[in-house]
Order: sequence, then C-alpha cells, then structure tokens
Amino acid sequence: GDAVPFYGARQAGIITPAQDRLHFVAFDVITGKKAELLAMLEAWTAAAARMTAGLDAGTIGAVGGIPEAPPDDTGEAIGLPASGLTLTIGFGPGLFRDAGGKDRFGIADRKPQALADLPHFPGDAIDPRISGGDICIQACAHDPQVAVHAVRNLARIGMGVVSVRWSQLGFGRTSSTSVSQDTPRNLFGFKDGTANLKAEETALLDDHLWVKPGDGPEWMAGGSYLVSRKIRMIVETWDRTSLVEQETIVGRTKGTGAPLTGKAEFDEPDFAAVDGEGEPVIALEAHVRLAHHSQNSGARMLRRGYNYVDGSDGLGRLDAGLFFISYQRDPHRQFVPVQTALARKDVMNEYIRHVSSGLFACPPGLVAADDHWGRALL
Ligand code: HEM
Repeated sequence: GDAVPFYGARQAGIITPAQDRLHFVAFDVITGKKAELLAMLEAWTAAAARMTAGLDAGTIGAVGGIPEAPPDDTGEAIGLPASGLTLTIGFGPGLFRDAGGKDRFGIADRKPQALADLPHFPGDAIDPRISGGDICIQACAHDPQVAVHAVRNLARIGMGVVSVRWSQLGFGRTSSTSVSQDTPRNLFGFKDGTANLKAEETALLDDHLWVKPGDGPEWMAGGSYLVSRKIRMIVETWDRTSLVEQETIVGRTKGTGAPLTGKAEFDEPDFAAVDGEGEPVIALEAHVRLAHHSQNSGARMLRRGYNYVDGSDGLGRLDAGLFFISYQRDPHRQFVPVQTALARKDVMNEYIRHVSSGLFACPPGLVAADDHWGRALL
C-alpha cells in the first residue's frame, strides 16, 4: 500500500519495481491552443502528485464540495491506499507535427530524432485505431482500481483539451525491473524478465536506458523513450505445442527459466554450445538468442510489459497476449534492431501477432513541487 515518491530526477514507473497492474492510455490533443494544453498539463501534474500519494485528484475531494457541483474526484478510490501508483507521461510524435504536418504548438524544432516513426516490421498487423497518440500515461499500481481511477481522473480533467485515443488494461507484470523481485510469467507460461536490465545495474542504465545530454534536445536529457507493442498471443495453438518445442522456441526451460545450456535461471546462455550431433543447443532461431545483446551490436532495453486478456474473440479463442513496453535511450538503436531480428526469424512468430504500436518520449522527472509536465517542452 506504500506510496512511490512522485518528485525526483527520474520519472517514477520506469525503474520502479514493476507493480502488478497496468492501465495505459494514449490521448489525442484536440485543442490548437498552447495555453490550454499548458494549463491542462499543470492541472494533471497537481492531480498526479496527489493521487500517487493516495489522495483525491482535487483538493476538495470526492465528497467535500458543494452538492450542486460535480466533485473534483470521481470517488472510486476513497479508502484505498496509494498502492504503489506511478504515473509516467510520454509525448508522441503528433504533438510536434499533427497528421496533416501542422506544427500546432510551435515545437517542431524540439522533436527528438529518436521519435521518428518506427518502421513497418515483417508480419506486423498494426491497427491504427489502437496505436500512436500525442500523449501517453502509463499508470501502474498494485490495485487495478487505483490505476483506473488515476487514468479516469486525468481524462476528466483533460476534457476539451485531449480525448482518449485508446487504452489498455494489463495484469500480472511480465517483467522484473529489480533484483528484489521474483521473475513473473507471461501467458506462454515462461518466466519473463530474467535477462532484463535491472534498477541496480546503474552503469548499464546510464548507457542503455537514460537519455544523455547531447543525445538530442535538452528537454529529454535524463528521460527515456517508451515503445509499446500490443502482441496478441494465439494461446490455443501454443497450448497444442509440445513442451520440448516450446522450450526450443524460447531457448530456456519452462520450469526454472534456465537457459538450455545452463542449470539455474540466472546462468548466462552459452550460444556456442553444440550437442552430440554438432547442432547448437540454443537454436539459431531461439527467441533469447535473437534478442540477446551479443547478437544486436550490444543493444539492451528495459522491458516492463504486462499480460492482458480482453475477453474473447467470438471464434472460441481468448483475446489474450502481452502488452509489451520497453524503455531505452534510443529506440532506433535498441528496439528496432532487436524487433527486426525477431520479426524475420523468431519461430515464436507462428504464435503471436503485433496489433498495436506506440512511441513516446518520456522526459526526466520533476524535482521542484512548482514545476509541471509541460514546462520544459512547451
Ligand atoms: C527474453 C518472451 C516479445 C525482447 C524473453 C524471454 C521470454 C520472452 C520467455 C526469456 C526470459 C527473459 O530473459 O526475460 C517473449 C514473448 C514475446 C516477446 C512471449 C511476445 C509475445 C519480445 C519483443 C522484444 C523482446 C517484441 C523486443 C523487440 C527480449 C529481450 C530478451 C527477451 C531483449 C532478453 C534476451 C537475453 O538477453 O537473454 N522474451 N518476448 N521480446 N525478450 Fe522477449
């Protein structure tokens, strides 16, 4: 039930030990007036600081105001603790130039190169209606009601300035972002997050996670870029696949999560090892080989995804999968080469489909209580 500090040099929700629940939302900015956008971001910041501390979104509260006015909090989190809530903001490419190429807020010259559109990957089945967006909020908490309450109140405050473009609920974090956490499992039943970047690996985080001064525009120094990919898993097909085939596809065992060349979860995979017939023990198309930094010019990322089930699809199948989130210093040098390798060769592709995509620039954290989310950029 503890609160995660809202203010700090880094935004919370990136290396914060991954909470159990996610509500991710992407907004379109529907005003052309910079002053309105700034005022909303200021109001959002105040509400976010309060909600992450376990308080109502507004200073009057859900039931403290005059009965004739709509309350400044929606009320469904009354009595609930902060539940580790973090609210992480990111800015999408459309804020700098809209779909028609217009620079609505006079900030096109501040657009980082890292925010250039992701390429189309082989096999992509991206639905634009659940992709992209001008602003994202990643709300994570141990209680889904708390995460949903936060997103709902930000949407309420933003009425007339932003509209919800798409949103996604997630459960059962599929990553550990700290050595203090056990590795959870994704819906294929495998441990996910074993070889992730961890909060304690500060030198690696400096090289691979946090944007450095000089990487691009100054307002992003100390921030990170977020890639979201909603990946549908065809779990019914996976469940008819033999255990040995599943383990060959991943390159790790299902039980302990050890690499096929090792005994314990955190043993380093040995990609050079061959069996009695001279075949590689970890297949050339195994997911962990294709995704490993040794095969991708050293590229690493911090994965922070969640499982999702959006009911069923009307064809007798669960509409389920992985809402993949990764944070990195430059998506075009990290996510893109890894996903290119996976899209071309990963045998797992027979069981998954990427259906949504997002790219957002998440600025550094707010240090002073009078600062707000819009100031450095706008
Ligand atoms: C590792 C599953 C998509 C990047 C792993 C592992 C599993 C897994 C079970 C091994 C445990 C671990 O180290 O975390 C999945 C599933 C996916 C998926 C089920 C889709 C539904 C992706 C995507 C990317 C990615 C889209 C990035 C483009 C990685 C990386 C590793 C990894 C970098 C660590 C490799 C290493 O250094 O050993 N994944 N993954 N994965 N995955 Fe994925």
